[in-house]
Amino acid sequence: MTTRLRPGGLGDEAAILAVQAASWRATYRGLLPETVFPRAEDPARLRFWREVLLTGASATRVAVTAAGAVVGFASGGRRRDPNLPADAEIYALYLHPDRCGHGLGRRLLHATAHVLRARGAARLGLWVLAANTRAQGFYRHLGGVPQRRQRSVEDGVAFEEVAYVWDPIDHACG
Ligand SMILES: CC(C)(COP(=O)(O)OP(=O)(O)OC[C@H]1O[C@@H](n2cnc3c(N)ncnc32)[C@H](O)[C@@H]1OP(=O)(O)O)[C@@H](O)C(=O)NCCC(=O)NCCS
Repeated sequence: MTTRLRPGGLGDEAAILAVQAASWRATYRGLLPETVFPRAEDPARLRFWREVLLTGASATRVAVTAAGAVVGFASGGRRRDPNLPADAEIYALYLHPDRCGHGLGRRLLHATAHVLRARGAARLGLWVLAANTRAQGFYRHLGGVPQRRQRSVEDGVAFEEVAYVWDPIDHACG
């Protein structure tokens, strides 16, 4: 199955949100309350993604099939949370559940790290839900080092998360 990566652009917002919604359902059901799951048709989230794609402030890479369907994406930029021991952060990395396990996650992580390094980042980090053991195994396999654990609250939901760091960022570039 040929899948290529390209920068995300205006017009990809609905497909990105659909992937995110499907991935959350498959990944976080039973781990987080479904009331906080993103919905593919949520106007506020569509506006958010349109803004991200329009400004280019976050580096967004999408994985696209030969037929043009977006089946995964990664997004990153400057560290948002000062507790993350890095200067650049992967904000999101999600594949459609049918596309997991074929090397796409690695390609998306590497491609996004390349962009962030080219923008001057020295250390890359991300937060992952502590209960998301599959993703943590993936990040460890790709050289990420767990460095910090914290309790956070978002949308009234409390959860544990773990910071993974690639220092230097070259270790995340493949
Ligand atoms: C996590 C995710 C991005 C990984 O992408 P993927 O395409 O499934 O993973 P890949 O096929 O690229 O895996 C790359 C390597 O990591 C290994 N790997 C993947 N998951 C692993 C795990 N849980 N433990 C150990 N190694 C793992 C693979 O075996 C592969 O190794 P190899 O090619 O060197 O033999 C993807 O599964 C996904 O979208 N999951 C649901 C959403 C999610 O949890 N996102 C992260 C939010 S922080």
